[in-house]
Amino acid sequence: MAFTIKVNNKSHRVDVDGDTPLLWVLRDVLGMTGTKFGCGMALCGACTVHVDGAAVRSCVTPIDSIGTSKITTIEAIGTTAAGAKIQKAWLDREVVQCGYCQSGQIMSASALLARNPHPTDSDIDDAMSGNICRCGTYVRIREAIKHAAQSI
Ligand code: FES
Ligand code: FES
Repeated sequence: MAFTIKVNNKSHRVDVDGDTPLLWVLRDVLGMTGTKFGCGMALCGACTVHVDGAAVRSCVTPIDSIGTSKITTIEAIGTTAAGAKIQKAWLDREVVQCGYCQSGQIMSASALLARNPHPTDSDIDDAMSGNICRCGTYVRIREAIKHAAQSI
């Protein structure tokens, strides 16, 4: 079945089954491999993208649920105001270790900052609790989000 989806401000026509997860479409059909596969069950956050600005787990989001919503991935998050601040803060605070979880971390953090420019510790915990990091970069992630918030 054919679907037209808008990803990073560009329309793409894809021919896949309606229950195909958005993550599969991004990676295998469109070749956008910045978004990562971790668990495939909405448990780790590695696959996080934005749908109309909200952080969603693309591994459990069927393509036929997208409709005309705007999808943003890690490839374009730096073009948004909050995303650019988060990416700079990630570099300033040297957050990344192995890097595998970090696309998802940045997408969740960017969505948080876009809707709440000055998050409390509790707001950060709520927004980031579903993003798992096997390398344990959580302390630096929190510092980087606060650093980004100070620059707003
Ligand atoms: S791969 Fe989607 S939440 Fe883990
Ligand atoms: S940086 Fe390695 S899993 Fe998070």
